[in-house]
Amino acid sequence: MCGIVGYVGNDKTVDVLMGGLKRLEYRGYDSAGIAVLDATGSLNTRKRAGKLAVLTEDLAANPIAPGSTGIGHTRWATHGGPTDRNAHPHLGDEGRLALIHNGIIENFAELRAELLADGFTFESDTDTEIAAVLIGREYRSTGDLTEAFRRVVARLDGAFTLLAMHQDLPGVVIGARRNSPLVIGLGDGENFLGSDVAAFVQYTQRAVAIGQDQMVVITPDDVTVTDFSGNHVVTEPFEIQWDASAADKGGWSSFMAKEISEEPDAVANTIRGRVDGGQVVIPELAGLDELFLDINRIVIIACGTAAYAGTVGTYAIERWAGIPVTVELSHEFRYRDPVIDARTLVISVSQSGETMDTLMAVRFASESGAKTLSICNTQGATIARESDAVVYTHAGPEVAVASTKAFTAQITALYLFGLHLARVRGTQTPQFLAAQVEELQAVPDKIASILGASEKIAQLAHWMADSRAVLFLGRHVGYPIALEGALKLKELAYIHAEGFAGGELKHGPIALIEPGQPVFVVVPSPRGSAILHPKVISTIEEIRARGARVIAIAEQGDAAVLPSADEVIPIPLAGPLFEPLLAVIPLHIFAMELATAKGLDVDQPRNLAKSVTVE
Ligand code: F6R
Repeated sequence: MCGIVGYVGNDKTVDVLMGGLKRLEYRGYDSAGIAVLDATGSLNTRKRAGKLAVLTEDLAANPIAPGSTGIGHTRWATHGGPTDRNAHPHLGDEGRLALIHNGIIENFAELRAELLADGFTFESDTDTEIAAVLIGREYRSTGDLTEAFRRVVARLDGAFTLLAMHQDLPGVVIGARRNSPLVIGLGDGENFLGSDVAAFVQYTQRAVAIGQDQMVVITPDDVTVTDFSGNHVVTEPFEIQWDASAADKGGWSSFMAKEISEEPDAVANTIRGRVDGGQVVIPELAGLDELFLDINRIVIIACGTAAYAGTVGTYAIERWAGIPVTVELSHEFRYRDPVIDARTLVISVSQSGETMDTLMAVRFASESGAKTLSICNTQGATIARESDAVVYTHAGPEVAVASTKAFTAQITALYLFGLHLARVRGTQTPQFLAAQVEELQAVPDKIASILGASEKIAQLAHWMADSRAVLFLGRHVGYPIALEGALKLKELAYIHAEGFAGGELKHGPIALIEPGQPVFVVVPSPRGSAILHPKVISTIEEIRARGARVIAIAEQGDAAVLPSADEVIPIPLAGPLFEPLLAVIPLHIFAMELATAKGLDVDQPRNLAKSVTVE
């Protein structure tokens, strides 16, 4: 939830830290701070409540002395409110040691009591300061910062990435991680640490992901990774597959606007390299045919938007591969004694690959004997590393807190997986599968055509900016799209929004309909869904009869919808299973435009953070 950056090298430290924090601000944005060891050997810290801009302005007005060793942090508060005092870095060893932290130290109360009994006092309400003071105390007794750090992390419960530096040790930053991400950036005469590669991609394309319960010591010319017992760990560097410009706004008004505009590319890039002779062949899954022939069910686990992508995936995988597929919220799955075994494939879907709820559910699935596959957008992420296999989505870095292009890429990856599985299991003819592949390959251009005609959606959003509540209805694959439309509106525009399965309406929710109530309806194609289409049209009639204002998202030229709905947003023709990839685009645009009309920050909605690394 917090963003972390560390640097050792030359005197551009402040620029590296602030640039890294800018790119990591999506992870948390209620306060920020840096610590820099200057040329005279003084440790200077600066930290401010509020968005990173507040710290930036402060540093512009009163520059911090340059130095070649530093750490920086952008916070999403857990213990202690978002104040200057609680912002990181926190200090230990009488102000000679600085520490930053992402995660939650669960046994902090007990450790705090121990330190209080030992006569220590605290400046903040955070769990982080406990770790800073503990490391300082150990350093006093051992005279070895790495050993002190190791002893302390071995005592911490919960989730943490910690970075520390000490006034006695210029050119050294020490890090450790458990259940929370940390990546090394390998430079020339300089090295970097970050919560993810965005922290340093401007300076280097070579990175190493640090594994669970591992520590790292970086100096300008060396990187040493060990486990928590001090045993040396052999690491495998990887090349970052996108450059710094991919993580910039590139002239767009917001990251969200840019990322919605990238939805066609996210789909196209996720398909690229995975179609051979008209059939889906996912290279990362080579050698797993036997496993795919043996499994007898699939459980998809994910949270939020990723779970809605997973729900869309269930319809396609069951239809194509003829295997039972269910979807579950990761945080519910692991606490309800699910019956899974070696013939269950558990697919996790996660943009960040760091969502704690999903990570814990993946571990639970592995421990229960199931096979695990992850669909992930972040190279080297923990969930990807800990799964038996991974299919990466190639959406590029997603910076806006609300997920958009990752959602369409996740559906695409699930569809590719469904087509791969159907081929391996022989459940469909090659001709049928080739036709689905063609449909999927046509999606990017169709999304682009919706983006090109988004004026009407923006207008609707501006008219509806004062709405108190908005409802969303859909059936079949349109149902998860209704849920996604509602979630986006809630999180961005702070408007009460609910998504319903159209068939459920008469079982209760129809009581919500009153004159003027806006209701979005995702209408299935009359050609592709001959049975469902008239039922959805009847639903529109029923709610309009009670005064609802209906905005239909419907196939271009759907004659039945025109007289029924108040507004129609047309989408291009597509097979029924491919409609969700199109119908969701107007809903992404609508939520962004409505939030913008209300003057809200669409990239950093209140109370949220992009990567939810606490349970
Ligand atoms: C909503 C949104 C969240 C994420 C969820 C899972 O717009 O972005 O609901 O989808 O927190 O995140 P990942 O995919 O990183 O596991």
